[in-house]
Parts: sequence; structure tokens; C-alpha cells
Amino acid sequence: MAFKIGLLGLGTVGGGTADILLHPEGRHPLVQEISLHQIGVKSLTKKRSIQVPPNLLTTDLEAIVTNPEIDIVVELIGGLEPARSLILKAIAHGKHVVTANKAVIARYGREIFTAANQANVYVLLEAAVGGGIPIIEPLKQSLGANRLRNIIGIINGTTNYILTEMTQKGASFSEVLATAQKLGYAEADPVADVEGYDAADKIAILASLAFGCYLKREEVYCEGITKITSSDINYADKLGFVIKLLAIASCPDNQPGNNTAPLQVRVHPTLVPKSHPLASVNGVNNAILVEGEPLGQVMFYGPGAGSGPTASAVVADIMNIVGVLATNPQPSRLDALLSYAPQGEREISPISEVYTRFYARFLCEDVPGVIGHLGTAFGRANVSLESVVQIGLVGELAEIVVVTHHVKEGDFRKAIADIEKIEAIKSVANIIRVL
Ligand code: HSE
Repeated sequence: MAFKIGLLGLGTVGGGTADILLHPEGRHPLVQEISLHQIGVKSLTKKRSIQVPPNLLTTDLEAIVTNPEIDIVVELIGGLEPARSLILKAIAHGKHVVTANKAVIARYGREIFTAANQANVYVLLEAAVGGGIPIIEPLKQSLGANRLRNIIGIINGTTNYILTEMTQKGASFSEVLATAQKLGYAEADPVADVEGYDAADKIAILASLAFGCYLKREEVYCEGITKITSSDINYADKLGFVIKLLAIASCPDNQPGNNTAPLQVRVHPTLVPKSHPLASVNGVNNAILVEGEPLGQVMFYGPGAGSGPTASAVVADIMNIVGVLATNPQPSRLDALLSYAPQGEREISPISEVYTRFYARFLCEDVPGVIGHLGTAFGRANVSLESVVQIGLVGELAEIVVVTHHVKEGDFRKAIADIEKIEAIKSVANIIRVL
């Protein structure tokens, strides 16, 4: 018996998915049970790199999600609308849904999973985070016995590719971004990548799965990579670090009976020690380090964007559903490990409450006493310094780089506000958190 797929979108990931489904030879036998029935596109005449039977194409996406013949709707159009409405309509028509849409799931996950659980259908989203890396199912299934505490990830391929090229080749930000777009890594609007929004969507999803709760996407602190300069990359290198865009979710108090404390969920560029496993994750690769009790640490690593890797995750989800339907076409109860029903909502701590190390680069007059003034301002705010270096001059100005110990972000910001008032300090050129 073949299970019929309605595919919404034939772009980078849709094309890769169609390619796998239309060429099942040599793959798992379940792939042969999956039939691509309809494909919803914007234009019937657009030239595409993938050849699909033209009779499968339609511009009527509503007709796909309401088509009684279709078993599984695969949403790969991206963006918030009409993706959200189409997913909800598919669920209302009893379709299982597979999606790669992190923006929709991060914002409307609660609405979508509630509807899916009521309609007794699956909504699977392996491709939404980490491209080809299996991370969603491991969090739901293989790691389910643990009390998870921390997730630290490089989960945006485009920014990792940009930072890697800037670090290894000294290339400029804009040159590398253009290449990433050509290679199909970047979002249609690359602002979502470079400003960290894409990574923030993804870490919101991972935190929700890892800690079994819904959270508010708008509470996730988010800072992108557009202010990172070659000067910061060079200083980081001299100090023994590389700069990565990290997405971090922590539940430090994940203890029995304590599942109400605020979570920490944030995305920002970070100086990562060169000896850390995430430091050597380069190019479009993603990696997600998961820490829990009694597990310890595991790291998931692989291609985090692009057509083939992301399509691999989409088809794995389709296969998971087909595997269940093949034995029981109308399950009366959803498989508890495959479905998702978190318990309630958790708050996210404001960034000012987070404890972290900082790197700060100052441009100042090269006069006696400046380092003393800096030290005094930090000391007054309870910020302890690990190192202070002055390496060179930028024009007439001295460049001073400070690395702090672990401090409360709110205290650090108070010190910076004081430092900005010191006459000899001409600018706070950059501030980057340190792992
Ligand atoms: N634009 C995303 C990235 C694609 O670069 O990681 C995968 O979600």
C-alpha cells in the first residue's frame, strides 16, 4: 500500500525531498511505500533544477491540504503565512504533517501541537533544526531517560560558514554571505541568518523539547554576527579562542520537583576556547552538544543546511509516520515517543541575570592611567578581570582588550555604562561573551 504525500514547496529542500522520493532505489524499503501525489508551487512555468512529472504540480496549495487522498502533508514553503494556516488546515483535515519550518513551530508550536494531539495526527519537524543532523528525535526518544540540563549548539549553517571563511581566509562578511546564498544555505531573507533569528527559532524548539515545556520565542535573547570584525577574530585567535554564533539553552536546576524555575535561552556570538569540541565545527556544519544526567555529554555533528541533508531529515520523518501507519492505518492513540505534548509554559530569564565571561575591546587615548580607570570601573561593579591586553595602536588610539571572569551580565553592563563616561575612552568597540 502506498502512502500519498502532498508536498508544499519545491525550493531547495522541497526539490531535495522530491528527488529522494522519486528515486527510492537502494534506500530503505519504506521509501518505496511513499508516493509523491501532488506538489504545490507558486509558478508552474518556473525553470527548476529538479525534474518532476508536470502533472503533479499545482498552484492550489489549499486543494492539497484538503485532498482526501493525501495521507501526509509536507510543508516546505517556509515563512509564517500561509505556512501556519496550511499546517492547521491539513491537521483539521486529518493529515499528518512533516515540516522544516522552524519559524512557525517556534512561534505557533503550542497551537499546532494542541490541534495535532486533538486530531490524533503527528506533526514531525526533524528538518527544522540542524539540517541533516538527527536531533529532534533523539531529544524526544533516545535521550528521554535523562534530566537534560544544557544544550549548546552551532545551529545556523550560514553564519558558521561566514565566520569560518572570515577566520580562515580573512574574507569579508558580504563576499561570504553572497556565496552562502548561492550555495542554498541562507534563508530567502538572509537577515534571519545573520541577525541570529533563525538560530533563536531553533534553540527555542530544542529548549521546548529538552525541558518539556512551551516557551515564548520573543523572550529568547538574540544577537547576530554583523558587528564581528576581523580585529575581533584576530584578538580572539591571539587569546586562544575562535568566534562562533552559539545558541544556548540551560535549565541549571533541572532536579526532581523543580521544573518551574526560569530557563536561560539565548543566541549570540561567543568566544569559544580552541580546545572546546564546538571550536572545530567549521563551514556549513552544525553541532549540538547536549548535557544531561546521567548521560553526561553527547555531541551531534553534521551538515546543518542545504538541499540533500535537510531533505534527508524530511524523508526520515515521513518514514517514521509511514512506519506507524503501515502497521495501524488509523491509530486510536498517538505513539507517545513520536508525538509531542509538553507540560505547560516556562519563563526565560532576562539576559541581565545570566552569568558569563566577557571579552570587551576599547579604543582609548594612549595616556597614563587608562587601564587603572578601567580596572576601577569594573571593580566597582563587582566584575572580576581575567586578563587585560594592549597590543597595538589603531591610528592614534590604543586598543585594549579585556576578558572577565564569570560575572552577572547586569553588573558587567553597569561597568560598561561607567566606562563610557571616562574621557580617555573613545569607544567601546565590541563586547562578545566568552564560553
Ligand atoms: N538558513 C539556515 C542555515 C538553513 O543557514 O542554517 C537551515 O535551517
